Amino acid sequence: MRTTDLQLASALGAWRRPGVALARALADAVGGAALDGRLRVGSPLPAERRAAAALGVSRGTLTAALDILRVEGWVDTRHGSGSTLRLPPEAAMRLAPVSAVGEDGAIDLRSAVPAAPHTAYQQALLRAAERSGPVLAESGETGPGLPALRSLIAGRYTEEGLVTRPEQILITSGARAALALLTAHLRPRAAAVEIPAYPAVLAGFRASGTRLAGFRVAADGWDLDQLHDAFRAAAGGVAYLVPDFQNPTGALMPDAARRTVARLAERYRVTVMADETMRDLDLRPAPSPLERIPRAVLVGSAAKTVWGGLRVGWIRGTAALVGELACHPLCEPLSAAPTQQLVAAELLRDPARVLDHRRTALRRQRDHLSGLLAGDSRWRFTVPPGGLALWLRLTDVRSDVVAAQSSAYGLELSPGQSFAADATCAHHLRLPYTSPITTLDRVAAVLDAACGGQGQGPRVPGPGR
Ligand SMILES: Cc1ncc(COP(=O)(O)O)c(C=O)c1O
Repeated sequence: MRTTDLQLASALGAWRRPGVALARALADAVGGAALDGRLRVGSPLPAERRAAAALGVSRGTLTAALDILRVEGWVDTRHGSGSTLRLPPEAAMRLAPVSAVGEDGAIDLRSAVPAAPHTAYQQALLRAAERSGPVLAESGETGPGLPALRSLIAGRYTEEGLVTRPEQILITSGARAALALLTAHLRPRAAAVEIPAYPAVLAGFRASGTRLAGFRVAADGWDLDQLHDAFRAAAGGVAYLVPDFQNPTGALMPDAARRTVARLAERYRVTVMADETMRDLDLRPAPSPLERIPRAVLVGSAAKTVWGGLRVGWIRGTAALVGELACHPLCEPLSAAPTQQLVAAELLRDPARVLDHRRTALRRQRDHLSGLLAGDSRWRFTVPPGGLALWLRLTDVRSDVVAAQSSAYGLELSPGQSFAADATCAHHLRLPYTSPITTLDRVAAVLDAACGGQGQGPRVPGPGR
């Protein structure tokens, strides 16, 4: 649908900027409106004469602004059909959200999160809106989830070799909601958990009074002796694992270890909750299919595959478990809004569209940051086969000290202790590589300065704030 001249003028608002040439200011305003969604990407812009009149500029100014937009990649112009708005590759492909890019001088890497895939997401929103009629005719309570989304997710498991029926899938508002529902239903007395682990889940267990028994995971794998002890301590309860590109270590559980986990789970009557949120972020050069822990209850999420703002996750279990969960009083409050489920269905139908680019960018950024930090005796790390972050072991300094120093340079980082169920990991630091290369250069420079500045790293380009 073509943007009208009045829509254009109203989207741009007061776009003139003192001291800035009209054409430049107009081009910046159009780009800004495309980025934050006030102007629709993919729609043709109004005819030039009408647009110039609506904006109160000459044809010459408008043409000059369009020239700038064309050169910078914001519009495509086809002879005879005018100009269509689009996002330039850097904007469409930016991997980290603005907070992690440091556009205001400060960089916040306390969360390792990919940015929204703007174009794919906006297109999915439009398609979901077109298909929303039947859903809007219902009550809005989706119970275990929209049938179309449950079928689609079941189909993905089946394609991957794990035959799954839609009744085995329950949709929630994200992986944390899925884990909260499972915890509320299973009411485990104890949980075996990884050290380090994704902190929000540890907090969830603590809040429900579940005792934690930890076992170590490092970049080179899971300590299976400790895992055995933890499963014994959590007998009759649950275990929470992230076998694929674990957060924060990035570790990938070997197939044999997966089978050991399943055997121990059976022996100690432990329900394994395998969180597969990071599974799609496979950065190996020639990925082989990933096995699954036999009989584990699987938890999935769109948060890393698509975007953290798409609040859709799911549980894959037996049909009996899913049936019980669907009757739990927290099922509805923890469910995803039906419109979100429609958007998720659009995006998860063809996840490769978003993921191919994301994996390429993450691989490049991981390798760049690893290259900047390699060979420095102040830390060591293993380049992870997937996920979103490096897990650095600092040689001499505590990571909370380094995080505080980095903060003074405008870089916020999570120290290792925040990932540990006990008081360990005090010398570890999680360093996400979700930001663009130029930001990663600054991250490495800040780290160099925060760790004493003796390294060969680049100089910090001035405090961020
Ligand atoms: C292992 C793991 N699980 C779950 C989540 C969050 O998932 P959601 O946003 O779907 O609740 C994260 C986010 O960082 C994560 O790392």
